[in-house]
Amino acid sequence: MAITDTPTGYGSVSRALHWTMAAAIIVLFGLGLWMVGLDYYSPYYQSAPDVHRSIGILVFVALVLRSGWRLGNVKPDDSDLAPFARTASRAVHRAFYVLLFVLTISGYFISTSDGRPIEVFGLFRVPSAIQSVGLEDAAGLVHRWTAYGIMVLASVHTAAAIWHHAFERRHTLSRMWSGPA
Ligand code: HEM
Ligand code: HEM
Repeated sequence: MAITDTPTGYGSVSRALHWTMAAAIIVLFGLGLWMVGLDYYSPYYQSAPDVHRSIGILVFVALVLRSGWRLGNVKPDDSDLAPFARTASRAVHRAFYVLLFVLTISGYFISTSDGRPIEVFGLFRVPSAIQSVGLEDAAGLVHRWTAYGIMVLASVHTAAAIWHHAFERRHTLSRMWSGPA
């Protein structure tokens, strides 16, 4: 079983990171929308944002690892795609990386701009770096719209993966699911 990526597919590290991060991001999106609607008397008023922030920090750590892994590995060959599909797919992949950094860093600023640290599942603590009036609201706006943007991209990305698999019978999905042929 390949650990690193090869020209014909993604190795086990990239696949594990892709699918666990995709699942975590989708869960965080739902949790985020639900938790901002909770009222003060809900039993989840404190714990839901705590869990959201903790998983979010772990997603950030995974994102840093994954970016390093991406840069240090060959990118599986996509020259069989039509020029438009290839350009669109590369643009979406790059946009995911950029937007995920914006999303996780804005989440960090929402949570820490009042000086409080983030406790990650009680395991370790991420301190506040910048305290500033108005930063929380600005970061909140960026966080919300970036999260929506990522979900729109994820829908297009998922539809494209299913399309290539089901209608064009390409190996696009299998090389991310089961690895190089
Ligand atoms: C990585 C994936 C993440 C996703 C998909 C995500 C998604 C969301 C969504 C959809 C909301 C609701 C926004 C709204 O409707 O106002 C939200 C709120 C929030 N998120 Fe995230 N988030 C992520 C990461 C993080 C991280 C890393 C942190 C902090 C370290 C964080 C902290 C918060 C906080 C504090 C709120 C509440 C904002 C408010 O009270 O208006 N999030 N998130
Ligand atoms: C929020 C969820 C998701 C995010 C953020 C995401 C992100 C990414 C990124 C950044 C890549 C490029 C790989 C790299 O160069 O590192 C990728 C590849 C891929 N993703 Fe996703 N993904 C998500 C969900 C999904 C889902 C639900 C599916 C399928 C049902 C999927 C199928 C694929 C496939 C097949 C590839 C390989 C494409 C290729 O080889 O050109 N992804 N994804």
